[in-house]
Formats: sequence, C-alpha cells, structure tokens
Amino acid sequence: MYGKFIILGSILVTLTAQATEEIPTTKRSKIFFSKLLEDLKQVQHKYKENSHTDTKPIKIAILGDQGFNERTRKILEMVKKEGSELLIINGDFDCTDSPKKWKDIHAKILGKDFPIIPVAGNHDIKKWDEYKKVIKEWESNPKLSCSGEAGEQTICSYKGIKIVSTTPHLFKKYNHTKYIHEAFKSDNTNWKICSWHENMTDMQTGKKGNATGWGVYQECLNNGALITTGHEHAYARTYLLSNIKDKTIANYNSIMSLERGQTVVALSGVGGKTARPQLHDGYWWANRQNRDTGLVGGALFCTFRVDNEPDKAECYFKDIEQGILDNFILWNNSNL
Ligand SMILES: [Fe+2]
Repeated sequence: MYGKFIILGSILVTLTAQATEEIPTTKRSKIFFSKLLEDLKQVQHKYKENSHTDTKPIKIAILGDQGFNERTRKILEMVKKEGSELLIINGDFDCTDSPKKWKDIHAKILGKDFPIIPVAGNHDIKKWDEYKKVIKEWESNPKLSCSGEAGEQTICSYKGIKIVSTTPHLFKKYNHTKYIHEAFKSDNTNWKICSWHENMTDMQTGKKGNATGWGVYQECLNNGALITTGHEHAYARTYLLSNIKDKTIANYNSIMSLERGQTVVALSGVGGKTARPQLHDGYWWANRQNRDTGLVGGALFCTFRVDNEPDKAECYFKDIEQGILDNFILWNNSNL
C-alpha cells in the first residue's frame, strides 16, 4: 500500500519538475500547476501519516483541566519522569487566561520540542486567538503530522497513532460527529484516540450537564477509538462499552478489545485543578477517582506496542501523591 504512495509521489515529483522547467503562462496551465502541487502535498501528508516504521513502545500522557499551581507543575514533571513522549491536553489550560505562562511552563518542564496536542476547553475562550497560536506552533512540531484548525478540530498522527481532537458544544460552527466520521473513514491506522473537553452527564462523575450530545461518543465507538475527555475535575474509566448512550457493557474485564463497535471512555480532568467530589455515579464505571477517594491530581498514561505486540497497550492512571490508581490493557482490533 505504501508502494502506491511512493509511485504516485514519484510521478507527481517528475511532473512538478517538468512543470517548473516550463513555467505555464496560460490560465489553464496555471490551474493545472497549482492543482498538481496541491495533489503532491496531499500525497506527501498521507505518506508521512502512514509511513511509520517504528515498532518501539510509545507512552502517551493524557490530562485536562490544568490550572496553574504547584500540582500543575508536579503533574507535568511526572509526565516527563514517566517517560512519556507525547502529551494530549483535554482542554481548560492554565485557567488564568495567560497563554504565555501556559506555553512557558510546558517548555520549561517538558522541553521546547516536546510534542503536545491540546484541544480547547470552555475556560480557554477569552484569549482563544493567543492560545490557538501556541497550539499551532506546537502542532507544527516535525514529530507530529497535523491538519485542521489548531485546538478546534485537528487530526494528528504520531508514529502511527491517530489523534482526533474536536470541540463539541464549544465551537458550534462545526459538525463534530461528521468530522470524526471523515477522519476515520477508510482509515488503516492501528491506534485511534478521540479527545475533547466537555461531556454528557453520564460520562462524568460530578454535576456537569449534557453538553456534547451522544453522536461524537458513538462515532468514536463505531471506529474502535479510545475516548478521552476533561471538564469534570476527576478521573473515571468505563468498562468496555458497545453502546455509550445506553451504557451497554460488552464485558467487565480489565483486558479489553478496541474494535469497531466497542470502546472505553476515560475522563482525565485533574491536570492541576482541585479534584471535585463524586456527585453522579453509574454501573458503567470500572474505576472512579475523585476528592472522596483522596485524589490529588494526575494523568492517564498509555503505552502502545508493549511486549513487542503492535496491537497491545498498557494504560494506568497515576496520582502525584497516591501513585497508580487504575490500570487496564487494550488490544487494538479496530481494523478487523
Ligand atoms: Fe471545563
């Protein structure tokens, strides 16, 4: 399959070279020339997205609702110490409307070239243009291949893992469900992750209302993509679900198969903000951590391609004071 991209890419490179030698003068030639360059860019993007040959394990950290305090700093230090090589932020950044401070703390602790994929939260809107600039800069990191509107709707690939970030309820100009559908359509990427900030009441453990609609959850489930959100300041992880709206449990094991029609939802919203008490519960939760359980703050970590198995991942949630509070194994079967 990659061979097709190489052949197509070579043809386009040759045609581009020819077109460059003879600069087109007619309008028709100009259209042909710009279309050719556009096609070449798309082939290059697609090839980069699919051409990963790295089979080493990859650890990704996922958190949201950071705030700007001592816990924020300690959690980022833990992200680094645990050996993560990518950070996904599920919205509500520093919550002080200070994009520069937010950018600087990540650069200071994780390093300037650390790949970070954030998506907007409701507390990030006031200075959104400035946050967007920071995110755009981060997503142009050569280690990532990203397309879309930074922090609003993006598709990023990192060593064969596809992360679709979107903003249901927040940016109403988009069709978020359709975006997810298109992002995963005809997709052969092994590992898929969906990231956004807000929730539906049953997909959080506090008092958040129904905001996002079920469509985005269901679309990610249809594609066997791990779903991760923020907004409520707690950690909670479902059993394997085959229907999210109806909370249909596929099985109660902590070893789970992500496949078309079943997935797991992980709320990871204690990246620094104070943990909240549990005010909402459900039989679908396999693990809940919040103020009532002594949660201080932490992140979800998933290591993909463990044990020389390209389709196996080990995940755990770690609190900065209590240590590991949840762990589970995922097998990717989403391309079957
Ligand atoms: Fe929020």
